[in-house]
Amino acid sequence: PETGCLSIIVLGASGDLAKKKTFPALFHLYCQGFLPPDEVHIFGYARTKISDDELRNRIRGYLVSNRSASPSEDASKFLQLIKYVSGSYDAAEGFQLLDKEIAKHEISKNSQEGSCRRLFYLALPPSVYPSVCRMIRKYCMNKSDLGGWTRIVVEKPFGKDLDSAEQLSSQIGELFDEPQIYRIDHYLGKELVQNLLVLRFANRFFLPLWNRDNIDNVQIVFREDFGTEGRGGYFDEYGIIRDIIQNHLLQVLCLVAMEKPVSLKPEHIRDEKVKVLRSVLPIKDEEAVLGQYEGYRDDPTVPDHSNTPTFATVILRIHNERWEGVPFILKAGKALNSRKAEIRVQFKEVPGDIFKCQKQGRNEFVIRLQPSEAIYMKLTVKQPGLEMSTVQSELDLSYRQRYQNVIIPEAYERLILDTIRGDQQHFVRRDELKAAWQIFTPLLHRIDNGEMKSIPYKPGSRGPAEADELSAKAGYVQTHGY
Ligand code: BG6
Repeated sequence: PETGCLSIIVLGASGDLAKKKTFPALFHLYCQGFLPPDEVHIFGYARTKISDDELRNRIRGYLVSNRSASPSEDASKFLQLIKYVSGSYDAAEGFQLLDKEIAKHEISKNSQEGSCRRLFYLALPPSVYPSVCRMIRKYCMNKSDLGGWTRIVVEKPFGKDLDSAEQLSSQIGELFDEPQIYRIDHYLGKELVQNLLVLRFANRFFLPLWNRDNIDNVQIVFREDFGTEGRGGYFDEYGIIRDIIQNHLLQVLCLVAMEKPVSLKPEHIRDEKVKVLRSVLPIKDEEAVLGQYEGYRDDPTVPDHSNTPTFATVILRIHNERWEGVPFILKAGKALNSRKAEIRVQFKEVPGDIFKCQKQGRNEFVIRLQPSEAIYMKLTVKQPGLEMSTVQSELDLSYRQRYQNVIIPEAYERLILDTIRGDQQHFVRRDELKAAWQIFTPLLHRIDNGEMKSIPYKPGSRGPAEADELSAKAGYVQTHGY
């Protein structure tokens, strides 16, 4: 690993994302020794005029970690690494001051042989990305003769449609090279999303089966059992497709559907993901169902006549040799009956079935991303006993049972460590982002123009019945207990 001083600058330090995700992830890393105090300094930057201690007090309550034997002592030590600088997002003054503070730290901490590393984490709304990037480029780049780097981390939403995303990409692209830009999609930091490559390409079982000859359909599902409370303003501008499907679920789709990469090099993996995205056919109106939960518009920040979907089922079709004819059913919803994210690969029926067992359900391979990570296969076995009858059972790899003493890292913790190490495998490349927007932009424009309506559904339900009908029409057979 690289040594020398590392400055981590969290812009938008007093905001929600920083408090709830960025600082806690940094704290997990600190507890595990990845942020050695003799090398690392953390800077919070935001407009609010507060002192170092005020920022520390705001964050303290969020610093809980099961990676530490004495979390509260560690939290106090960690907080001492944080310094706060206040300034605006588009004026030189604040950034000049920030640069001065970083340089002070670099001079005090840097050993002769070390390099200077500057990691800027933009926990900010995308409207200020261009100006913040300009300011960083102008005033805050690493200038050390000893080498090192400057990297920036950006969060979604990267734009609202193809044009705005491309515009944003060009603005940032003029200031930073692609290897310096880390576009976070936190689903790529989840344990079982990272496991997809291994499952698919390190197991003989799956190699011959993973195609249109054997697979009937694939469902990628995200459900939340709470609404948009407190985020209505943001959400109403974006909706569930931009919030979840175009990024998180589509990234999962890429990993399920892509061809084997030449190697595990990040560029090889991302090349294959882009190919899948480019093979997706335009979405048909009749293959999308939108919903909005009743009560969503009661939020004072949501307009009374909002048509923004809080639920969507969309069928994607991949036009290539492996997947022609296999629907990928992407489904996401807020205020549903449970909180769950999973991938269900449903196999075709056994030809010439002599057991008449098809009614009990198909073979299914399920990867549950959360909660309670698990991988299981539904298969038909003989019902134990004297009779020759069949029953559907499971081969079950439940992480909680199998890996009892292993702590599964948080997505942000893993991804921030990757940014420090310079590994871009689990980040979205510019061409990938473009291809993802290309798929959804026409549909999003039709929704924005009011050409497609959201169907009301009851909070705590499965979403609109029309969505289940669409999945069934696409070939999905609902199995027992789901
Ligand atoms: C975020 C969305 O990206 O992901 C939220 O903006 C959503 O609306 C969240 O709640 C879900 O993340 P996770 O990791 O809890 O599934």
